[in-house]
Amino acid sequence: MIKINNVTKKYGEFTAVNNLSLTVSDAEFLVVLGPSGCGKSTLLRLINKMIPRDSGDIEVDGENIDDLKGEDLRKTIGYVIQSIGLFPHMDVKRNIATVPRLLKWTEEKISQRVDEMLDLVGLDPNQYKDKKPFQLSGGEAQRIGVARAIASDPDILLMDEPFGAVDPINRLRLQKEFRKIQRKLKKTVVFVTHDIDEALLLSDRICIMNQGEIVQLDTPERIVLNPKNDFVKNFFKGEGILTILSRKPAVDYAEPRILDEEPLDENATLREVLTLMLTTGIDKVSLVNGSISWDHILKIAGSDQV
Ligand SMILES: Nc1ncnc2c1ncn2[C@@H]1O[C@H](COP(=O)(O)OP(=O)(O)O)[C@@H](O)[C@H]1O
Ligand SMILES: [Mg+2]
Repeated sequence: MIKINNVTKKYGEFTAVNNLSLTVSDAEFLVVLGPSGCGKSTLLRLINKMIPRDSGDIEVDGENIDDLKGEDLRKTIGYVIQSIGLFPHMDVKRNIATVPRLLKWTEEKISQRVDEMLDLVGLDPNQYKDKKPFQLSGGEAQRIGVARAIASDPDILLMDEPFGAVDPINRLRLQKEFRKIQRKLKKTVVFVTHDIDEALLLSDRICIMNQGEIVQLDTPERIVLNPKNDFVKNFFKGEGILTILSRKPAVDYAEPRILDEEPLDENATLREVLTLMLTTGIDKVSLVNGSISWDHILKIAGSDQV
């Protein structure tokens, strides 16, 4: 758990984070979303004590971070940044082993862990272990960055626009994989982005920031359906609902089946149902466990059911 109480960070006269309070629960995936310069990266750096704050308190897993040495705190928190920060002269194996080495794990345990981490992020250990960062694509390097951050099994991950440099197709794959990994390992994640779709896809809750302050903090569904003010409304430009539908397995919303058509795949989302309706003109789509109608989709999209 991370508790931030009335924290302010100033750069000279400029207030980058303004009297901000926020609690992140265990195993929660919190996305911090906001325009460039609103203080997102500053907030992450305050949590892992890379920069000092002017006032307020921060607790990580029940300990006031002032009672911990910065380097000790950072060994317990994984940190992933956009520019990846892989050490260019070290191979993949040594990169992933960075923190386990600092923690003085045995060579055998480290080696086993490196293989496990590569498997977890979907890269074949034998093929990738000995590569140097320059031999990796952007997407592969980003996976190694994630593998390195979780190698020492920290409970908390701070991620600063980690997939920002990856092309759109690989980004979506990485986002989905990472969400699965987070659910499986139950990590507490604070994930910074300015990408709305990314925020809607990944988050349990979204914290919308502007000018160093929290504007709205809630589930993606509630934010999209009830934006607190014009800033939030304009930020989503009314498009969030499509991404919300992408998060929803269609089978969860099925009504009794009437049609005899080939049902959609059981993993289909509501967005895929909607797309099928829009491209074929049919107003009822069969699912493995029932069906979904156009009216039902509209109702789901416009109600608190999503
Ligand atoms: N070391 C610094 N010195 C002066 N101003 C800074 C420094 N770091 C960040 N800032 C300013 O603080 C504001 C918030 O920065 P940052 O947290 O990096 O924003 P974000 O990550 O949301 O884009 C920006 O206006 C930025 O220019
Ligand atoms: Mg930033």
